[in-house]
Amino acid sequence: MKTAVYFCRSCGNESAKWLGRCPACQEWNSLVEAPSRESPPHRRLETGSAAGPLSRWACPADRRSTGIAPLDRVLGGGMVPGMGILIGGDPGIGKSTLLLQTGASVARPGGVALYATAEESGEQIALRARRLGIASDHLLILPENSLDRILEVADEAKPATLIIDSIQTISTSALESPAGSIAQVRESASRLLFFSKERGLPLFLIGHVTKDGSLAGPKTLEHLVDTVIYFEGDSSFAHRILRTTKNRFGPAGEMGVFEMTDRGLSPVENPSSLFLSQRRAGAPGSVVFCCLEGTLPVLVETQALVAGTGSASPRRTSTGFDPGRTALLLAVLEKRVGLSLSGNDVFVNVAGGVRISEPAADLPVACALASSFLNRPARMDTVVFGEVGLVGEVRAVGRSGERVREAARMGFRRCILPHANLRDLAFEKGVELAGVTSLAEAVESLL
Ligand code: TYD
Ligand code: MG
Repeated sequence: MKTAVYFCRSCGNESAKWLGRCPACQEWNSLVEAPSRESPPHRRLETGSAAGPLSRWACPADRRSTGIAPLDRVLGGGMVPGMGILIGGDPGIGKSTLLLQTGASVARPGGVALYATAEESGEQIALRARRLGIASDHLLILPENSLDRILEVADEAKPATLIIDSIQTISTSALESPAGSIAQVRESASRLLFFSKERGLPLFLIGHVTKDGSLAGPKTLEHLVDTVIYFEGDSSFAHRILRTTKNRFGPAGEMGVFEMTDRGLSPVENPSSLFLSQRRAGAPGSVVFCCLEGTLPVLVETQALVAGTGSASPRRTSTGFDPGRTALLLAVLEKRVGLSLSGNDVFVNVAGGVRISEPAADLPVACALASSFLNRPARMDTVVFGEVGLVGEVRAVGRSGERVREAARMGFRRCILPHANLRDLAFEKGVELAGVTSLAEAVESLL
């Protein structure tokens, strides 16, 4: 079967005919012809398969730890045989460092790790390894940009783990398009994934993020691999956050935190204390939220600044929190709590470069906005969580018990939470639970 022969260079969307503008990402002149292929990239792993009852199918063998706790967590509890993992992030964030450390950590006698790099020379890798204090004889370094050669070496060396740095810099001579083109990235990824699935070895692909924040050729790569992890950081902090956006072997939204030191990345055991370390006492516009997107509850500081504006169209900026959600909360505060915010510039930020997508962050963000607008600080000993609805009601959120326990562990004495969550909560020693039914009630209780 012939597959589509045009690809968008910017987003990876495919098309059967050439178009002046990509219908998916609206980029002009981005469609390029790729050599036609007879088989789809998602090759079948077995031929002549037969259906069978569930009991016939063995579960994947035990997970293997990478020896690096935050990485294990974002993988869903360690590596699964044949797992294809894409790790994306901005240049300089620490992807090569993380995977060199991972390679050294998983390499063992009888199970070497192969680290193929097309970005740096063997000497550069050796220099980095020295800095990291790595001296494993079971970690093989292959400076190479030919996919065909990498597969040849891997076939001979029979590694237990394969690392490719990066997927955009390797290419196969089977295609004419240059390395980094959608066709090459797609072909390289699918052949490597086929190799890793066939032999049951975990495969790590490093990918660069394009300027709009997505992995180059996101559509093609993200659906090919099992797990997509982003490596993020804030330039003003030494910490780095790993976050799973897709995982066929575990929950998405999982988070792992590291600190970049002069000897590589070191796991942060207690992210809550890291994210709250720079909180200022008595500052209006700051509210602590207990975020729980993966399995790990983490306390973060949500911040808001509401300031008068001279402009006819006030500014609205939201970092780490959905701008659409901010607009909604402003409207609810205006209409249901009676705060006339509309003539003000509004800024929302989640401290430490954390990104939140759970609705449970509505209540702390709305409270931070109210706190800044009224210029009254929130109580320092209080953690807030809850979803806010359009009529100003506070709705129940999931796993409230874990959030309350994390607040207690970090020494907070009070939680403002949805009233509806109270009935599934056990008594937590030393923590007062203030159940609220409306945003107005929460603001009253906090300020
Ligand atoms: P790197 O892993 O090369 O990033 P990427 O592969 O994502 O482009 O990391 C680059 C940065 O990390 C660089 O600015 C130097 C810094 N770094 C440290 O601070 N400590 C270290 O031990 C190492 C190896 C790198
Ligand atoms: Mg690198």
